[in-house]
Amino acid sequence: MPVIQTERLTLRAPHESDLERIVDLIGDYEVSKMLALVPHPYTREHGIDWLSQANTGKPGCETVFALDAGDSLIGCVSLGKLPNDPTLGYWLGRPYWGRGYMSEAAGAALAWLFANHPVDELTSQAMDENPASLKVLRKLGFSDDSKGTCESLARGEGRPSTVLRLKRDTLIKTVTV
Ligand SMILES: CC(C)(COP(=O)(O)OP(=O)(O)OC[C@H]1O[C@@H](n2cnc3c(N)ncnc32)[C@H](O)[C@@H]1OP(=O)(O)O)[C@@H](O)C(=O)NCCC(=O)NCCS
Repeated sequence: MPVIQTERLTLRAPHESDLERIVDLIGDYEVSKMLALVPHPYTREHGIDWLSQANTGKPGCETVFALDAGDSLIGCVSLGKLPNDPTLGYWLGRPYWGRGYMSEAAGAALAWLFANHPVDELTSQAMDENPASLKVLRKLGFSDDSKGTCESLARGEGRPSTVLRLKRDTLIKTVTV
């Protein structure tokens, strides 16, 4: 896994030593309720399982970047289903919302993806009740593709959502990596 440096963040592979932070931050229902495959409550065992499947290099595994703001993990960006049907997912711990961190981090991860993989487009999905995430995606150059339902393990039911698509040449570069 590469290490990517942006103005304020280091994107790096998540480590076992990140487990407590992951469980603490993603265990916040305000975070997990916006995500598809994150259960609530979120236990250490969930975190261990998730860490063990990340970055294995096996087909379909997630490429996961931990977002490190200097002294600890504040969130993650994941690129799923590489290389054939790539998807983008992400979350930040609640104390770190609203400071432009995700636009910075996701922009860097996408710039890395297009520079290093023969991928021409990818999709992401956000619940329609998640304007912050929809804004992050549209700011990066994603455009609306279709309407759907986003699964939510934390809620136990799906929610109306928008699928958005980004093409290689429509990425709006928010950072230089
Ligand atoms: C979605 C999330 C990643 C956004 O991260 P962030 O670092 O706060 O996002 P940014 O600051 O880069 O950008 C958010 C943008 O949305 C805007 N925004 C935030 N809340 C909003 C709201 N309720 N309505 C409209 N716009 C809103 C912000 O003003 C900002 O716009 P700007 O760049 O023009 O100032 C973060 O809130 C999060 O992790 N939420 C929980 C998990 C989640 O939703 N993951 C994504 C699942 S699809």
